[in-house]
Amino acid sequence: MPAIRAGLVGVGPVGDRIYTCVKERNFDLAEPLRVMATRERHEVLGGDEVLVKQIAPELFDGLDVVFFAGREGAKGASVEWGKVAIDAGAYVIDNGGDFRLDPDIPLVIPEVNMDAVSAATRFICSPNCSTIQMCVALAPLYRVAKIERIIVSTYQAASGWGARGQEELNSQIGQLARGEVTEWDPAVFTKPLALDCIPHIDAFLDNLYTKEEMKMLYETRKIFADPDLAITATAVRVPVEIGHSESINIEFAAEMNAEMALEILRDPDQSPGVVVIDGPTTDPNYGTVRDQADPSKQPWAGHRYIDERGYPTQADVLRDEFKDAVLVGRVRDDVTRPNTINLWCVSDNLRKGAATNVVQIAEEMIQRGIIP
Ligand SMILES: NC(=O)c1ccc[n+]([C@@H]2O[C@H](COP(=O)([O-])OP(=O)(O)OC[C@H]3O[C@@H](n4cnc5c(N)ncnc54)[C@H](OP(=O)(O)O)[C@@H]3O)[C@@H](O)[C@H]2O)c1
Repeated sequence: MPAIRAGLVGVGPVGDRIYTCVKERNFDLAEPLRVMATRERHEVLGGDEVLVKQIAPELFDGLDVVFFAGREGAKGASVEWGKVAIDAGAYVIDNGGDFRLDPDIPLVIPEVNMDAVSAATRFICSPNCSTIQMCVALAPLYRVAKIERIIVSTYQAASGWGARGQEELNSQIGQLARGEVTEWDPAVFTKPLALDCIPHIDAFLDNLYTKEEMKMLYETRKIFADPDLAITATAVRVPVEIGHSESINIEFAAEMNAEMALEILRDPDQSPGVVVIDGPTTDPNYGTVRDQADPSKQPWAGHRYIDERGYPTQADVLRDEFKDAVLVGRVRDDVTRPNTINLWCVSDNLRKGAATNVVQIAEEMIQRGIIP
């Protein structure tokens, strides 16, 4: 395969992870990654000291692909510079939300819908971090039994807000540890995040959902090419630095139960990118009956207590082996509805939720001969 020339716009937490992923995945680069942001300086990215150049049209000359990890909005990086990159001959892969729902622009998760990209596609969007991990976990199940309805609650890390979100949480934790009153910048989180959960991510809309919650509906419908898919979401910011978790209730159109779901999710061919961390569900010898005050009056009378079960948490995605995975656990039948299950999933919002996904898209485009 020929060597490629690649660029990176934005050096916040996502830009840092893109730089790291490109380095880790041994891309055949004809020249060092061309790194750009709003002003010139040196930054440490992926452990290297890197010259960050002030973004300018000539920096896109000769690039085959540009990863965008800038801020969103009218003055955001891909709105201002996406077309400049394309006119210079590059493919653009964007982390931001400005173009995700444009019907002419594919919204891509390589494990789910890579075929949405063709050589004619010059601009490719990567979904929101919460959407990515949910779709990686659910696409294998959707393929088998089609999903009708999803109820999801998210537990999202401070770094989902960018570098400032992470700094805000860390400085509040420091203040609490020193016994000081917590200060906060309401432009980042509306309340102090340390020791609290905030059910508010992105702007409120007139239907009383937040934009983050509606993104999960519209983006997932687009990725699964299913305009009728019902999704209702509650997105919550939690005092965790990195790693989003989600509690998901999934109702299927055809037969599905927890045992079937676990078998599918444990099969790497059917479920690429998924790692199941879950305890045994069917071993009748596993677990104990504990003394209860009057078991006959308790709804859980006759249930065994399961002493040990594995499940993933946000700390797991910081482990090297899981840094690019979507971890799934707590897979169980919804005891109130047929063909309905619950599961819990966790992923690194900065890696698979952003950087890894865009780097994988480029990797696939190279393998398919689209780039260069
Ligand atoms: N954080 C997450 O979990 C996550 C997940 C999925 C997607 N995303 C998306 O990924 C993008 C980057 O996220 P982040 O958390 O790394 O953001 P961030 O901390 O705000 O960093 C943004 C970077 O983009 C640069 N930038 C902003 N506007 C620019 C412009 N007009 N031209 C050139 N550079 C510009 C900034 O430059 P300076 O450093 O010079 O100011 C900064 O380096 C955002 O669009 C975000 O929505 C983030």
